[in-house]
Amino acid sequence: MSIGTPLSTSATRVMLLGAGELGKELVIALQRLGVEVIAVDRYDNAPGMQVAHRSHVVTMTDADALRRVIEAEKPHMVVPEIEAIATDLLLEIEREKLAEIIPTARATRLTMDREGIRRLAAETLGLPTSPYAFAESLEELRAAIDNGIGYPCVVKPVMSSSGKGQTVLKSASDVEVAWVHALQAGRVARTRVIVEGFIDFDYEITQLTVRAVGASGQVETYFCDPIGHHQVDGDYVLSWQPQAMSPAALEAARAIAGRITGDLGGRGIFGVELFVKGDQVWFSEVSPRPHDTGLVTLCTQRLSEFDLHARAILGLPVDVTLRSPGASAVIYGGMNATGIAFEGLAEALQVPGSDLRLFGKPESYQKRRMGVAVASAPTVDEAIERAKLAASRVQPVRA
Ligand SMILES: Nc1ncnc2c1ncn2[C@@H]1O[C@H](COP(=O)(O)OP(=O)(O)OP(=O)(O)O)[C@@H](O)[C@H]1O
Ligand SMILES: [Mg+2]
Repeated sequence: MSIGTPLSTSATRVMLLGAGELGKELVIALQRLGVEVIAVDRYDNAPGMQVAHRSHVVTMTDADALRRVIEAEKPHMVVPEIEAIATDLLLEIEREKLAEIIPTARATRLTMDREGIRRLAAETLGLPTSPYAFAESLEELRAAIDNGIGYPCVVKPVMSSSGKGQTVLKSASDVEVAWVHALQAGRVARTRVIVEGFIDFDYEITQLTVRAVGASGQVETYFCDPIGHHQVDGDYVLSWQPQAMSPAALEAARAIAGRITGDLGGRGIFGVELFVKGDQVWFSEVSPRPHDTGLVTLCTQRLSEFDLHARAILGLPVDVTLRSPGASAVIYGGMNATGIAFEGLAEALQVPGSDLRLFGKPESYQKRRMGVAVASAPTVDEAIERAKLAASRVQPVRA
């Protein structure tokens, strides 16, 4: 494996599809290794564009537009950062050997659709999941719940992320509202939903799993310490590492993570989302890319999830050592406005062990993630208090 000189004929070129806050950190990690980075997103001045060599504004669900930019830039690797991409085009690009798709085109195709990844996990691999069914009409949804899923349950559009269009249903009177909500929020004009039995878990984790070339020269699987997190309305607000787990639960989590990532294949980091109750573990879903809850690794691991992804995709060795317990707390925009400013930064950074990332998003919304506070501490509990305190001191203001 060699890396060339950026902006020369020897350059190693990586194209990111999606250039949000996770993309921005990945771009920085790649830049440090001398990679030439091209950032693509649907709007100008996206966070990752601000640190890349070049950028393009492209509707990434538009296969023709995506092919044009890949053919023009000739990246060696294409790294999806988001789910909403013309993944059939990625399959073609991979087949034509125009670029390597990270981790694989099949992984991006399967994970953009809850049905693809759920059927693979539960039906092909036999991994434990919540009971589930699919529906394409209100009547089908009612029937699926009545014929086995029961209440409480969760309805989600099959194509959606960040909790969009999801409803927890407690009784039959919630079905119609859930159906309408899912229809309004689905990413594409499709009316398919998954309904899952509600898992009454003790806690949920992200098991970051890295597939990287090891000393043997073969791809090996590495497991980071488990990350615990709190979700509010389908969005993570707080994460911490390590999440304490029983030895049996940890072993089950890693067995599941190893199976699903092994099947998806390729090289890179995966965020495997799992529900845990006692020693019992259920697979929920997997991102074949850095995970938002993994922002905590910026202050906990010797190599953050972004450094790990960069190394893994480049064929370099990784090290998943945890350096310190830590936590991350999300900073929301709190207003709908462009070009906002942030105050209270000095006060925030007076919190011991703390650090901040402000993503530089051009436009703020009430519930848009604009930054994150991370903090390390001798214990997870202290780290959580520190991260929350630091985040609370950052005040978004109209400029
Ligand atoms: N079957 C379930 N039982 C209990 N809780 C669930 C279930 N499905 C989802 N949840 C809760 O809702 C959250 C979001 O669900 P899920 O991860 O499927 O959606 P998402 O839109 O992909 O979210 P994100 O993009 O933030 O990962 C989960 O992290 C979990 O807290
Ligand atoms: Mg999720």
